Amino acid sequence: MDIRLIYFSQTGNTRRIAEAMAEGFREAGHATRLISLKKASPQDAAAGDLLGIGTPCFSSQAPAPIKTFLQNLPALEGRRAFVFATSGGAPGRVLFDLTRLLQARGADVVSGFLARGELHHPAPCLQGRFPGRPNAEDFARARRFATALIEHVSAGSPDPVAESRPDTFKPGGRFYNLVALISTDGFLRRMLPEPKPDPARCNRCQWCVYECPVHNITLQPYPILGDRCIRCYRCLTGCPQKAFHADWRLGNLAILSFYNTTFERWFGDLKPGERIY
Ligand SMILES: Cc1cc2nc3c(=O)[nH]c(=O)nc-3n(C[C@H](O)[C@H](O)[C@H](O)COP(=O)(O)O)c2cc1C
Ligand code: SF4
Ligand code: SF4
Repeated sequence: MDIRLIYFSQTGNTRRIAEAMAEGFREAGHATRLISLKKASPQDAAAGDLLGIGTPCFSSQAPAPIKTFLQNLPALEGRRAFVFATSGGAPGRVLFDLTRLLQARGADVVSGFLARGELHHPAPCLQGRFPGRPNAEDFARARRFATALIEHVSAGSPDPVAESRPDTFKPGGRFYNLVALISTDGFLRRMLPEPKPDPARCNRCQWCVYECPVHNITLQPYPILGDRCIRCYRCLTGCPQKAFHADWRLGNLAILSFYNTTFERWFGDLKPGERIY
């Protein structure tokens, strides 16, 4: 079988889960290509026998860049597909978003996988949640998922894949589904602080220009942000010169009121005994 895994990943969590799945597929004798969203074309998704789409969860949903990619795919009538994601304790509708968009192109989505991923977010209340995740157990689970999935697809079974998450096929918990629906990119731009570049620190290396997933940064001659920002904060957390900053006084409060231990335990995905700070 020719398997394509297309993933969006900023800090490597989703990429490393995709790599673990690819190991599982290859061990079972299947040719597997891993393609970063930055380099993926619609043709990459349209070819092959089985398509996997992966993403981190942002604001309890799938981020704009992967949604836009899926919306622009050609018809995938009858193509077998699966989805995967990494997240903190409130994945909301991230898997369902991917499923829904693939199904809209005609794909036959058979299963979905979710793993925890350490947060690299500048809001003080979120920094460093779930350290070390995904870990060895998460990678082992991803390989087991790949094995179960390939057996399922090879057998042409009409039943759901045993390891699949139920929120692949229906939106996650109602509260975080609502948070996701409210958190449009425009709403996030109003609620969360804009990253501000400091020309005195910037050495014009262009890293942020390349890394911004919505091509919202230009150098003129120092970084200028346009109006497409999705508040992913990749520029701020990754700039080698630490040239970006943001004022978190209000944004941190807004985030903490939705993404706290109590709510994530009641309405999210936090398991008994798991702590987030
Ligand atoms: C901007 C941003 C928003 C996030 N929002 C959520 C969220 O709403 N719920 C959640 O469970 N995790 C959230 N996370 C955590 C990421 O989904 C998690 O860290 C993921 O593993 C990152 O994947 P990557 O390393 O492949 O980029 C967020 C992370 C970032 C950077
Ligand atoms: S990544 Fe940092 S140092 Fe490089 S161009 Fe952007 S702001 Fe300047
Ligand atoms: S400007 Fe920065 S925060 Fe905004 S989308 Fe680009 S990388 Fe993300």
